[in-house]
Amino acid sequence: MTDKFNRKIEYARISVTDRCNLRCRYCMPENGVEKISHADILTYEEIIHVAKIFARLGIKKIRLTGGEPLLRKNICKLIAALKSIAGIEIVTLTTNGVLLKSFAQDLISAGIDGINLSLDTLDEKIFENLTRRNFFLKVIEGLQILLDLNFSNVKINCVPLRGVNDCDILKLVALAKNYPVKVRFIELMPIGCAENFCGVPTSEIFNLIEKNCGSLAQVEKNSLCGPAKYFKLKNFVGQIGFIDALKHKFCGDCNRIRLTAEGFLKPCLNFGTGLDVKNLLRSNFSDEEIFSAIEQTIYNKPREHLFNKKNNLRDGRKMYQVGG
Ligand code: 5AD
Ligand code: SF4
Repeated sequence: MTDKFNRKIEYARISVTDRCNLRCRYCMPENGVEKISHADILTYEEIIHVAKIFARLGIKKIRLTGGEPLLRKNICKLIAALKSIAGIEIVTLTTNGVLLKSFAQDLISAGIDGINLSLDTLDEKIFENLTRRNFFLKVIEGLQILLDLNFSNVKINCVPLRGVNDCDILKLVALAKNYPVKVRFIELMPIGCAENFCGVPTSEIFNLIEKNCGSLAQVEKNSLCGPAKYFKLKNFVGQIGFIDALKHKFCGDCNRIRLTAEGFLKPCLNFGTGLDVKNLLRSNFSDEEIFSAIEQTIYNKPREHLFNKKNNLRDGRKMYQVGG
């Protein structure tokens, strides 16, 4: 469906848990967070119910996020079930990769269409400092397995932080030289713990890459690839992507909605407004009533985020609750 600003909304990000086995400094506090009780998280049946309504409203792509989605039991069953919904063409996953080694084959068998790996550095020490856990080698093994299995849609997400991992940008870029992966740089958004860090602007990374690796040639977009812009470098098998969240806002092209693990439908990352779908599901509203409420919420998706504005009324939810 289209929203009131005529944007075609085709992509839903569904967070399946707020729990995580890393503690990335820009995302989670050291001691973790108060866990949402299991009863407050949508069950798989409820997620599938909502996904069927999403599909009727024109959603074609679903991405599972967290926290860390591989921590949720039987995640591959959910993936297979979502894949079988008429109208859902693509089901993907964003993971920190810690558990990827043991899940890779099952994810592929369940029909996963793409895996995004959050990997902010290729330096073991920086990884440990940034994530507060020493799981670097596990993540690298997970990535290696995907490549060994010839899984063809791997994206690597890096959020460059000034003075933390910005020294590692070219090493991450080099992954795309030899492997068919998309290495993406995401501008830090000021959400939760991220407000204590300084992100590196996309333009700076773009210039650094061009200076060291030659000119970046833009690749044509398809409508489901969202706000990322992709580029080729000469003699690289993979691609480089940029998500320019702040300076060149992508809100005009935004095609997505988000469902939190607690079942709250968020039409924009910035704002706390949206719809408590869990409450509707558990209060015996009819399918048609839930359909209309979701349709209304999508229609009223805010025009743009206001992260750059000082007195912006932000959502109190954190990134690990929303899933990026
Ligand atoms: N700004 C931008 N990206 C973020 N991520 C987590 N927190 C932020 C933030 N504040 C990234 C993660 C992951 C993706 C889902 O979102 O690194 O790759
Ligand atoms: Fe976990 Fe991702 Fe947050 Fe890191 S950024 S703590 S991997 S949810």
